[in-house]
Amino acid sequence: MGGKLGTLFARAGHEVVFSYARTKGKLNRLARDAGRKARAGTPAEAAEGADALLLAVHWLRFDDVLKQAGDLSGKVIVTCSLPMNADDTALAVAHTSSGAEELAKRIPKAQVVSAFGTVPSEVLFDVFEARRKATKPSLVYCGDDARSKKIAAQLIRDVGFDPVDAGPLRIARYTEPFTLLIAQLAYEGKGGPELAYRFERLGQ
Ligand SMILES: NC(=O)c1ccc[n+]([C@@H]2O[C@H](COP(=O)([O-])OP(=O)(O)OC[C@H]3O[C@@H](n4cnc5c(N)ncnc54)[C@H](OP(=O)(O)O)[C@@H]3O)[C@@H](O)[C@H]2O)c1
Repeated sequence: MGGKLGTLFARAGHEVVFSYARTKGKLNRLARDAGRKARAGTPAEAAEGADALLLAVHWLRFDDVLKQAGDLSGKVIVTCSLPMNADDTALAVAHTSSGAEELAKRIPKAQVVSAFGTVPSEVLFDVFEARRKATKPSLVYCGDDARSKKIAAQLIRDVGFDPVDAGPLRIARYTEPFTLLIAQLAYEGKGGPELAYRFERLGQ
C-alpha cells in the first residue's frame, strides 16, 4: 500500500519520502521509480517537516515504526493499516474499538485519519489512470480533526477517488470490518482483486 500510494502521491505532485522496509534497496527502488518528487529515508526523516504521514504497516509493526518515527506531535497520520492478527486471518481489534483508534491512543498528540484501507492495493493504479472520468469510485475516510481530514480528502482525490466523509475516528470500527468484505470479494471472488466500490444516493 505504501509503495503504491507513495508513487501515486508523487505522480500527483507531492514530495514523498519512502521509509520503513527490511532493505534500503527497496526504498531506493521505489523512490527512483516514483520520479523526481520522491526519495528514500528513515521514518524519522519522513516525519520531519511532512504535512502528512501515511502509515501502511502490519498492526504488529506499529510499535517499531512509531519508535523509529520519533515525536509525532501535531502530525497528520493517515492510516490505511488494519489491526489484523499475525496470520492475517482476523481483526485483532473490533466492535468496541478499531485499529485507527488504538493508534490514536498511542500517539495522542498526532491527528489520525483512517483512509485508503478499504480498497485492495491492486486497484490503486487503475483508479489513478481513470481519475479524469466523471464517475469515480468512492473512498470512505474518518477522523476527529477537520484540518487533517481536509488533507486526507485531498490525497484521496489526488489518487482518483471520490472522498466520502464517514465522520469521527470511531467509525473505523465499521470501515475496518467492511474491508474484510472487500478483501473477500477481491481475493475470493471471480473478478480479480482490482476492485473498488461506489455509493449512490437515490431519492433526492
Ligand atoms: N495490501 C492491501 O491490499 C491492503 C489493503 C488495505 C489495507 N491494508 C493494510 O495496510 C497495511 C500495509 O499492508 P501492505 O500489504 O502494504 O503490507 P506490506 O506489503 O507488508 O508492507 C508493509 C511495509 O512494512 C515493511 N516491513 C515489514 N516488516 C518489517 C520489518 N521487520 N522491518 C522493517 N520493515 C518491515 C515492509 O517492508 P518489506 O517489503 O521489506 O517487507 C513494507 O515496506 C496493513 O496494515 C494492511 O492490513 C493492506
